[in-house]
Amino acid sequence: MLKILTPTILTLNINGEDRDVVAKPSDILLFTLRNELGLTGAKPGCENGDCGACTVLVDGWPIKSCLMLTVEAFGKQIITIEGLNNAPIQKAFVESFAFQCGYCTSGFLMVCHALSKIHPDADDSVIEEWLQSNLCRCTGYAEIEDAVKSILKDKIN
Ligand code: FES
Ligand code: FES
Repeated sequence: MLKILTPTILTLNINGEDRDVVAKPSDILLFTLRNELGLTGAKPGCENGDCGACTVLVDGWPIKSCLMLTVEAFGKQIITIEGLNNAPIQKAFVESFAFQCGYCTSGFLMVCHALSKIHPDADDSVIEEWLQSNLCRCTGYAEIEDAVKSILKDKIN
């Protein structure tokens, strides 16, 4: 991992583009994305790893960006909700009514998108296990599970 001791310009790969940010050693990726880059789709919720509203993909894996230092993102491929670009899971969420207030939705979309790529044959127990990483206070989880199952069933992930 790159080590920095003072504010430094870092080039991060975000949604397929190299983006320069000024980062201090203690900066958190979630707030660099939101405040430095204007990518506000990842949401601050608990800010301690419990809710998943801040989830982004790091080299294809869902990661809670409130728990990652900005400097740790150096050399990795970061995808935010802004980079999903009409992925099948987004349409599936709409068709399954898998959100209400929407605050948790970008985080769930990132988890579900990654699940569909990493475990295209996921069974119910795998889906349930993955969805435990994120919290929704509105929908229950049945509609979100339905959305995931619909793209796995149709093999359109
Ligand atoms: S804000 Fe990151 S897990 Fe809740
Ligand atoms: S849709 Fe409101 S918290 Fe999930």
